[in-house]
Amino acid sequence: MTLGWSVWLLALCTVASAAVAIDSNTSTVWGTYRPQLFFGLRPQVPRSLVTGLAWFSTADYEHASVLRHSASDNEGIETFKWIYHDGRNFGVQEIVDRKYNYRLETSFVKAAHEHGQPGHWAVRVRGTVLDESFPAALSTFFYVGSEDSESSFTLLDGQLHGSDLGGFFVRTHDLQGQPAEAAPTHAFTAKRVPSQDVWRGKDHILSDMRPHLQALARSQEAWPPAAEAMQLSNSSEPQANWYALQRTYRGNFTYDIMLDSALSEDKRWTSEHVTAALAQHKRSYDAKFDKTFSLHQTFPPQQVTYAREILAQLLGGIGYYHGTCLVDRRPSDDNGLVLHNMEDAQPEVEGPYELLTATPSRTFFPRGFYWDEGFHLLQIGAWDADLSMDLLESWTRLMDGDGWIAREQILGEEARSQVPGPFQTQYPLYANPPTLVWGLQAYVRAIEAHLAATQEAVEGTDTFSAETSDASSLASMYARLQSLYEPWQRHYEWFRRTQRGQIRQWDRQATARREGYRWRGRSYTHVLTSGLDDYPRAAKPHVGELHLDLHAWMGSFARSMQQLANVLGQADDALEYGEHFNDIAANAVDLHWNEQEQLFCDLSVDSDDTSYFECHAGYVSLFPLMLRLLPADSAQLGASIRLLRDETQLWSPHGIRSLSQRHSLFGMDEDYWRGAIWLPINYLLLGALRHYAQEPGLYAVEAQMAYTELRKNVIHTVLEVCASHSQ
Ligand SMILES: *[C@@H]1O[C@H](CO)[C@@H](O)[C@H](O)[C@H]1NC(C)=O
Ligand SMILES: *[C@@H]1O[C@H](CO)[C@@H](O)[C@H](O)[C@H]1NC(C)=O
Ligand SMILES: *[C@@H]1O[C@H](CO)[C@@H](O)[C@H](O)[C@H]1NC(C)=O
Repeated sequence: MTLGWSVWLLALCTVASAAVAIDSNTSTVWGTYRPQLFFGLRPQVPRSLVTGLAWFSTADYEHASVLRHSASDNEGIETFKWIYHDGRNFGVQEIVDRKYNYRLETSFVKAAHEHGQPGHWAVRVRGTVLDESFPAALSTFFYVGSEDSESSFTLLDGQLHGSDLGGFFVRTHDLQGQPAEAAPTHAFTAKRVPSQDVWRGKDHILSDMRPHLQALARSQEAWPPAAEAMQLSNSSEPQANWYALQRTYRGNFTYDIMLDSALSEDKRWTSEHVTAALAQHKRSYDAKFDKTFSLHQTFPPQQVTYAREILAQLLGGIGYYHGTCLVDRRPSDDNGLVLHNMEDAQPEVEGPYELLTATPSRTFFPRGFYWDEGFHLLQIGAWDADLSMDLLESWTRLMDGDGWIAREQILGEEARSQVPGPFQTQYPLYANPPTLVWGLQAYVRAIEAHLAATQEAVEGTDTFSAETSDASSLASMYARLQSLYEPWQRHYEWFRRTQRGQIRQWDRQATARREGYRWRGRSYTHVLTSGLDDYPRAAKPHVGELHLDLHAWMGSFARSMQQLANVLGQADDALEYGEHFNDIAANAVDLHWNEQEQLFCDLSVDSDDTSYFECHAGYVSLFPLMLRLLPADSAQLGASIRLLRDETQLWSPHGIRSLSQRHSLFGMDEDYWRGAIWLPINYLLLGALRHYAQEPGLYAVEAQMAYTELRKNVIHTVLEVCASHSQ
């Protein structure tokens, strides 16, 4: 796909240059990699350029007091969402700012990003008044800053020039807009700011306006209209590395900002090019979306649109982070039994590291979270396998020599500014569900699809091009996968070594002597590392605990490693991983199945040093089903499906509840994993039910029925309940 798109772009903006095969990373140097802002582009290059958009209403002084910049400055914003985003070359975002009476559309489109070069891009900011019966005036700011302390900008003929990324120029073009009051529509400032503070765009804008406002306050004169007073200073400091451009309008407006790379010989875009490119990208995107997910046969148009926006949101949430992080590597004195007292952390600064990652929430969690990312990669992998591989490789580079990856990635000052102090420190004994391995699986699937397509092409007429282009891209796909094998073996072994639980010590009988697992770092009320934070567990932490969810994750991890080893031709390793899987699957029943309760349970050890079942019917009980550890004819599978279908416990018209309604802690305390319906888990359950429906076995019919109904319920919930809430 990447190839096709760039061919089109080349055709649009170059003078008949031949289309060249491009590397997978070539279109991802620049991106909207600051998802923590409403809008901001930056390249995936440390200490380089950052850009951002900010705005306030100049209808009156009260509205001008809140400058919107970070996505958390969203009071009075009805919605902000990417309605298109391909993860590479273009995106369109809609922001409905009810309080300021504007709908903003922020679009970007890129061109000429070949050979890993930064290329050109254009940003279009379009403001439409929501309710024309009220006065509407908006001041927007677009800034460009350099984090390279050596860098400085010059202003030449209304263009900004800098040396970063091989040299660049920024220019702007107005398409539509009326001045607000007597205020100038254009203003600017060029400042010298410390390189580590370049990201603080909002502070720099406000501090630039402050002297003028203070002078106004001291003078005896009446205040001018807000649009006139709230203007940047039109001044340039020497050696400026931070430049902002202000545009103030009343009513509807549109303007473009264009960045041209000095490295590219391609023709510079005009606003007409931008309009054409955006329209063309939308068409290609719709076609690719249709081809990839084939939703239009099954769903009405507005539901397909909703699905497209969900994908766009995920891709538009991808961020690039760079900087140091905090790690407390002191050995644990209790084998990681109890969560460290976070107030007593003695972290050391490590890094700097960099990470390209999708983010769980632009408002609340705009940074990398290990187990969320696995779910992100499942979807991104289906859309653009090479992009999801970029993310997976980026995460893999954060692995330390032992095979540990911190579960929460808080890199750099900007990311840390959003996280309370005690939560910033990471501990190298703490894990998180190994979902990232799905990124590997997605890539294996992409290779298989590629192989199948090549096969077809070879059998067809177009033998020559199929052999030349596909053989080399297949080889490079294999090479990427191959280079992840060693670190992922290390990661897998890290899990097996550090999260191992005790079996024989507590006289437990099991097929395999060593396949039992315990999450490290729990507290009395929470197992944050499990991802299921407040799900009920044994009341008192004990080294003899065995956690069923981790047990099932380890089985699933072993099976993924087996697939990977197979694809890479590592037959001996594949055999070994297969044995791990079989042992873990056998032990799931031997250790965790409570015959009396007909339920899978955690284990713990009581005050008489006796092992006992710690049972809490809910998601944890469903893990052996969910991660497909059970053979299709096992009685435990039947019992698990019955539990899932029980309306007095887990089944609801909206999906499967996290905890049984009959549990004494159902809906209690912070009520996070104590009844709430989690879509990622429902998604996994659907996958498992479909799997068992297709396997010949005693429960295929029950699995099929549960699958069909659950799918209907979940889709209805997302489309009717959630979608209508977000509108
Ligand atoms: C992209 O790939 C080229 C070589 O193919 C490499 O030199 C460059 O560093 C890569 N860029 C990024 C941002 O990964
Ligand atoms: C600031 O400069 C712009 C041109 O960039 C001009 O249009 C505007 O009038 C100036 N503002 C003031 C207050 O002089
Ligand atoms: C502003 O734009 C909207 C949407 O394009 C349009 O419906 C409206 O008529 C415009 N308002 C004016 C005053 O041109």
